[in-house]
Amino acid sequence: MNRLDQVVDRRGTNSVKLTHMKKHFGREDVIPMWVADMDFECSDAMKAAAHMVADWNLYGYADRESDYFEAVQSWLDRRFGWKVKPEWIAHAPGCVTAISIAIHEFTNEGDGIIIQEPVYYPFHMQVEMNNRKLLNNVLIEKDGFYEMDFDDLRAKAKEAKMMIFCSPHNPVGRVWTAEELMKVQTICLEEGVLMVSDEIHFDLVRPGLTHTIAATLSEEFANNTITLTAPSKSFNMAGQQISNIIISNPELMKRYESQRETMGIHKPNNLGIQLAKAAYNDSEDWLDEVVAYIFDNFTFVKNFVDERLPGVQFHIPEGTYLGWLDFKAWKFSDAKLQDFVYNKAKVGINPGYKFGKGGSGYMRINVATSRETVQKALEQIEAAYQEMEE
Ligand SMILES: Cc1ncc(COP(=O)(O)O)c(C=O)c1O
Repeated sequence: MNRLDQVVDRRGTNSVKLTHMKKHFGREDVIPMWVADMDFECSDAMKAAAHMVADWNLYGYADRESDYFEAVQSWLDRRFGWKVKPEWIAHAPGCVTAISIAIHEFTNEGDGIIIQEPVYYPFHMQVEMNNRKLLNNVLIEKDGFYEMDFDDLRAKAKEAKMMIFCSPHNPVGRVWTAEELMKVQTICLEEGVLMVSDEIHFDLVRPGLTHTIAATLSEEFANNTITLTAPSKSFNMAGQQISNIIISNPELMKRYESQRETMGIHKPNNLGIQLAKAAYNDSEDWLDEVVAYIFDNFTFVKNFVDERLPGVQFHIPEGTYLGWLDFKAWKFSDAKLQDFVYNKAKVGINPGYKFGKGGSGYMRINVATSRETVQKALEQIEAAYQEMEE
């Protein structure tokens, strides 16, 4: 049996996915497939790194040393052909923190910031909670495939200071082509819009497709881009609070670092550092296996939905482990859809409307889990549907 087929019991591990179920779904008995982490155990190399730290039994301040930078540099070069220098790699505990740092440093209250809904909802929360103006360049959906509206983007860019870009895109699953990235970057550069490119899902790409890092398309673009990367999603270590924020423009880097200090954000924790090194240096096979498994799960979802959930539309995403289920044909209100999924099917997934414009009628499902769990969740949706039809 594939070890990823094992149903990992996360109870008792202080996982948000389980401990916050009542708050999000109003009940404890849903199958949790929401928050974006994996149910898979981490790699053996990461387990060994954690043991090493536990054996030291010392948890004082630590910092990223040259071997840490080498691990990140080597990963970006090996996987994306991106040669970065150590002085380009800033720290943030999370990519959302980096977004907040960038908003504080590079925009003022009232300034326009572009996002592309439906999108990971902390984007609009960061813009609005920091009293910036939300400029929503809504994605265009055609038969389940999403594209950017470049004319609208150009118009919005004229009154924007910053764009928060999601690549690969959560939740619509696009891995943007180099041609699309060229267009976005060109608009941002020509209109004086700083590009904050959130590429946290960059390792989670459908086998056969290639993720292009937006900053790598030209030096001019790189000079206008802050790229958010992390081992967190790829290696299932989001709780360890370590992201790598890549900024090749020294002026932007100086200002980012100064704002980080101003906000009192200091060094990463040692466990995170050691796990990240073990991930990037010694866990590539683990990742490749996991990505293949996830995309097999997506194929399973696709077949199940097409054969057994009438009206529901599903397209296998190009990237991320998040599926975007389209229930629009059922013509339910968002409240009714949510009630159906939580209380009748008892599946804990994210309602699409939360991701903003264009999200109504959808649900987002996290398939970074065992096939058995995916199957059970879909069967529960099917059974609830059949009961409703009777
Ligand atoms: C696009 C995107 N950015 C950022 C995050 C969260 O990142 P962090 O935990 O590093 O703040 C997520 C998590 O799902 C995400 O999907």
